[in-house]
Amino acid sequence: MSLLFSPLSIRSVTFPNRLWVSPMCMYSAVDGVVQEWHHTHLAQFASGGAGLIVAEASSVVPEGRISPRDAGIWNDAQRDAWTPIVQAIHERGSLAGIQLAHAGRKASTWWPWADERGSVPEADGGWQTVAPSAVAFEGFESPVAMDAAGIERVVDGFRSAAGRALDAGFDVLELHGAHGYLLHQFLSPLSNLRTDEYGGSLENRARLLLRVIDAVREVAGTNVPIFVRISATDHAEGGFAPADAAVVAEWAIEHGADLIDVSSGGLVAHQKIDVHPGYQVPLAAAVRQNGRVPVAAVGLITGAEQAEQVLAEGSADAVFAGREWLRDPHFALRAAHELGAETAWPPQYLRARWR
Ligand SMILES: Cc1cc2nc3c(=O)[nH]c(=O)nc-3n(C[C@H](O)[C@H](O)[C@H](O)COP(=O)(O)O)c2cc1C
Repeated sequence: MSLLFSPLSIRSVTFPNRLWVSPMCMYSAVDGVVQEWHHTHLAQFASGGAGLIVAEASSVVPEGRISPRDAGIWNDAQRDAWTPIVQAIHERGSLAGIQLAHAGRKASTWWPWADERGSVPEADGGWQTVAPSAVAFEGFESPVAMDAAGIERVVDGFRSAAGRALDAGFDVLELHGAHGYLLHQFLSPLSNLRTDEYGGSLENRARLLLRVIDAVREVAGTNVPIFVRISATDHAEGGFAPADAAVVAEWAIEHGADLIDVSSGGLVAHQKIDVHPGYQVPLAAAVRQNGRVPVAAVGLITGAEQAEQVLAEGSADAVFAGREWLRDPHFALRAAHELGAETAWPPQYLRARWR
């Protein structure tokens, strides 16, 4: 019996398997509107047997985009562009999630293959960034510290983005609290120097994340799973640490989140990460606390046996992969084939099932 290919039920959603597509920015949207590229890109993973496909970080307000080419979900045109993509995923037997995001001080940057690096000047379509405190990410323009109205704008943005995502048909909402983006900037003492109720103690630094979870849960009702991606460590002295992550994860669950997607890093340029296969799995296991908190593991999980092992050893409840899906959009079909596991093959591909 393969654990990777056993179903998982959360609220009213049953995932057909536990090998999922991690959110990946394509930097190919126009005014936040996803394009044909996104349609083909995401639908292929559904044909390839993914149990869940989480669409890329999609900004809840215009100024929350990582780059001017990021996807958005703050207006109806953006919602309407997502709808046929979700349908294509469903038609192929998979489930669709979307990662709701705000990049904070790491917004308004060039996309990875642009000729330039760092912040995009306003003359080239960039904008003034916002953050918990006026502390720049090394090499980027300085953000403006958010005032009370700015914080409400973020909470409202997540709330209405969640509504639009549900209207587009998404089955799962993931909140981006990782990789040094806005919610993570609030969590970490390295980027949050506030002295009001959103800064200082861990409880205060987690307040915005928990308010966002509350707002999104209100819109999502009782049926829709909410995931929260966190960076369980900043990999930097004095930063957010695994012990903080375990506490924040429990609070997130108390506030209506269903699963913590455990990643790491991204907050500061001087982070020191020892990257190796499955390097973030121990962080997921620590947050899971022997099954008390449902978690997904992610990060250099590239093989069927390896993914199966992560579940078998009790480190996680599901596995996200990113780059392996880019190399092989049929990763789940191949994994099922290698493990000799049953999974729902597209009937068109059945002849590839056993030999
Ligand atoms: C092209 C690309 C885009 C990414 N965009 C996002 C994103 O939108 N949101 C996110 O949380 N992580 C993003 N990531 C990180 C992945 O989701 C994943 O956590 C990371 O690649 C590690 O998993 P892997 O080793 O299986 O690729 C991105 C990674 C890649 C390669």
